[in-house]
Amino acid sequence: MEKYPSIYLDNNATTPMDPRVLEAMLPFYKEKFGNAASIHHSFGHEAKKAIENSRKILAVELNAKIREIVFTSGTTESINLAIKGVCENETGKKNHIITQNTEHKAVLDTYDSMRKKGWEVTILPVGSDGCVNPDDVLSSIKGDTLLVTIMHANNEIGTIQPVKEIGEICRENSIYFLVDAAQSFGKLNIDVQEMNIDLLAASAHKIYGPKGIGLLYVNQKNPRIKLKSQIDGGGHERGFRSGTLPVALIVGFGEAVKIAGENQKEENRQLLKFRDKMINEITAVHSDTIVNGSRVNRLSNNINLCFPSIDAETIIMKMKGVACSTGSACSSANLEPSHVMKALGYSNELALSSVRFSIGRFNTEDEIDSAITEINKTVSLIKGNSPGHRLLNV
Ligand SMILES: Cc1ncc(COP(=O)(O)O)c(C=O)c1O
Repeated sequence: MEKYPSIYLDNNATTPMDPRVLEAMLPFYKEKFGNAASIHHSFGHEAKKAIENSRKILAVELNAKIREIVFTSGTTESINLAIKGVCENETGKKNHIITQNTEHKAVLDTYDSMRKKGWEVTILPVGSDGCVNPDDVLSSIKGDTLLVTIMHANNEIGTIQPVKEIGEICRENSIYFLVDAAQSFGKLNIDVQEMNIDLLAASAHKIYGPKGIGLLYVNQKNPRIKLKSQIDGGGHERGFRSGTLPVALIVGFGEAVKIAGENQKEENRQLLKFRDKMINEITAVHSDTIVNGSRVNRLSNNINLCFPSIDAETIIMKMKGVACSTGSACSSANLEPSHVMKALGYSNELALSSVRFSIGRFNTEDEIDSAITEINKTVSLIKGNSPGHRLLNV
């Protein structure tokens, strides 16, 4: 593997920081270093003002109220706070929570943790396109269901879930609805009111912002969500999450969302063009390639391809200059087949033959063309060297 691949196609894992974001952050690492909780001097006031400015940008993006935005370290923490927070705050008789099987491990592992604490957990299947059926959500609801968690867009296959329909079902049944929007925030339109979302988690580093900062939207009206805090301390963030706020990171998050909002349409059009070019030009040369996930309900920057009977790791190792991944970044350290591919009904072999390419704001058409050439060349080379594959092709 190249030490420093030159074409970065792993933007679903994380994105490079936009230089404009870094520019906005820098003063808050230098002269504007105050603690937002310091109420007695201008250093503190300046920090607080910058934080509230970002909070407003994020709230507007979601059609939420400013006080409904809680800053955290990222989506994983937000998801933990949301799930554990509502469950541990439940004093009534509710004891059942629902999710689906292509969720990120941040959700699945937290659900597992609740299961070990005595909660009944339902994990719904998805169809071969990766979409959960809202009817399945409805039929799994019981009298003691407290929470439904569904991701907006999948990190491995880019599938966009029918969150609006599911939100409606949850609201009609008085059940809290949590959405993991790590892959969609700043990319797709999200209106928490219209979509009946009660809790929503997102991170800055997926949208050209800094790592280490995220948000949890917490509905404060009809219903007003109460959460048991997971970090106790000075009562920051209205008691939901204590700890001195990282001002520069928060400023960067706000700037990243502002830039994303300004360019969303144009950027999505460009990403879509690149995405479809890659899919079409790779499948044209290697006709046995399977496009994993939905072709329709899909993030405009996600491509996930299965090259049957070829080991995905081998493709990635042999390719020169293309940075991509075999699945979610968190699980690509081990060679277990991806739980998302397994959820689509794939065998272990097919699951281990799948590669994710995710495009971003800074990719150029020249890079996309070079990547297509390199991918096609590498797959041809491996097919030529693999007697197993030759047999399959006769
Ligand atoms: C869908 C999804 N959920 C949750 C996470 C976790 O986000 P973070 O690493 O910012 O905590 C990710 C990041 O890969 C993700 O893609």
